[in-house]
Amino acid sequence: LGWLSSSVTTHVYDGSNSVFLVERRRSLPKGFIFATSTAAYQVEGAWNASGKGENIWDQMVHTNPGFIADRSNGDTACNSYNLYKDDIKLIKDLGFRMYRFSISWSRVLPDGTTRQINEPGLKYYDDLINELISQGIEPMVTLYHWDLPVALQNMGGWLNRTIVDYFQDYADLIFARFGSKVKWWITINEPFSIETIWQGHNILKAHARAFRLYKAKYWHHGGKLSISLDSTAAFPKNSSNEEDVRSCERYMQFQLGWFAHPIFSTYGDYPAVMRDLIDNNSAREGRNFSRLPYFTVKEIEQIRGTFDFFALNHYSSRMCTNGKRGQSPSWSRDMEVYAYFNASWPPSQSSWLKVVPEGFRKLLNWINFEYNEPEIFVTENGFSDYNVLDDQGRINYLKGYLSEMEKAIYEDGCNVTGYTVWSVLDNFEWRAGYTERFGLVHVDFESPLKTRTKKASAAFIKDYIEANSAWI
Ligand code: NOJ
Repeated sequence: LGWLSSSVTTHVYDGSNSVFLVERRRSLPKGFIFATSTAAYQVEGAWNASGKGENIWDQMVHTNPGFIADRSNGDTACNSYNLYKDDIKLIKDLGFRMYRFSISWSRVLPDGTTRQINEPGLKYYDDLINELISQGIEPMVTLYHWDLPVALQNMGGWLNRTIVDYFQDYADLIFARFGSKVKWWITINEPFSIETIWQGHNILKAHARAFRLYKAKYWHHGGKLSISLDSTAAFPKNSSNEEDVRSCERYMQFQLGWFAHPIFSTYGDYPAVMRDLIDNNSAREGRNFSRLPYFTVKEIEQIRGTFDFFALNHYSSRMCTNGKRGQSPSWSRDMEVYAYFNASWPPSQSSWLKVVPEGFRKLLNWINFEYNEPEIFVTENGFSDYNVLDDQGRINYLKGYLSEMEKAIYEDGCNVTGYTVWSVLDNFEWRAGYTERFGLVHVDFESPLKTRTKKASAAFIKDYIEANSAWI
């Protein structure tokens, strides 16, 4: 099993009569893809340029500025709408082979529906994709990264089941226009972060619709599709305490299993533990129906198997032990888990992000085991700090996480085929505004030109990619 190790012994012949055995570090597997990622609302700016419709983030930052930590917004952000060629130069210079970005739904369909198609919006993405391809960088396109058109929100957004049809129409348009150039697709980014159980139910259906549409109508382009699911890893408070170990499993099922189980498990549907606990609690609360909706048998079949690979966003971990309902995370009190950070885990600028490299390996293994060894493409991983160029914290984070990923691949046999850094640029970090920075490249948001400056981590990642692309 020599290949299951992160170093290899190579025979070197130097022209003499002796053969030397040299132990050297193994590079990541042949074809492994290094990518970096952004999302439309976080980098583009140009919030009302050339016929773009309003989305829920435009609306929220304008009507409720206090919702954002520094009262900022994404009106201009990194101005990538105009500076995308500069971004692509940076991406190439850092050595990445792929760029994951998202399409702003309301930029191409101002009211979210195909009643009106905004050609200048489509042209922007066409230019972006063409520039990437001409620079030798493969595009990975996310269809929905949280910026819902306001007109659809006014109809109830993800709570209204007709959104599944609107999402299908939108996906159809994008596949038709860009299907011949884009081979990697993410339908929806991090449904877990988007909302509650009922929105999630429709999100799963919308994802499945877009996937099935592609496979029926655009399969000849040979693209690969998935949905980016975010997850932390869970560690038991006391690893020899069986209750704590079970708490971890419940935490994983209520978090990642919620969206992964219907799509990636053999049987489809929500995880059994989630079904049991929520059904029971609903009955106890005197409800006539469960707070966790049911799929029809037909829906289960439509959703199950709608993936070509497992797309994972991962940043941090939690410790878990049994908890009372009130102690459980707000997104599900039903699991009765108390989840917390180990005090020894180094912090970042984001309260939810502590540095736990070993969690990455644990999570990759959990997925590998739970979903029958799927191809895993890491579509986000990264670290936040504040306005620094010498970002040693980010370098430490990346070093740690990448080396744990190597172990997952070479020691544990996980089939990880790609890895994506969030993000190439500092950008608008949602409710944190510009107070939490995730970029390999610094952006001076005060400067009219949104000046980009490489941080120390940019050189680190470039070296790492180079060292790991020497396939043997
Ligand atoms: C999750 C999201 O996909 C992205 O939009 C966000 O900026 C990063 N992770 C960091 O929080």
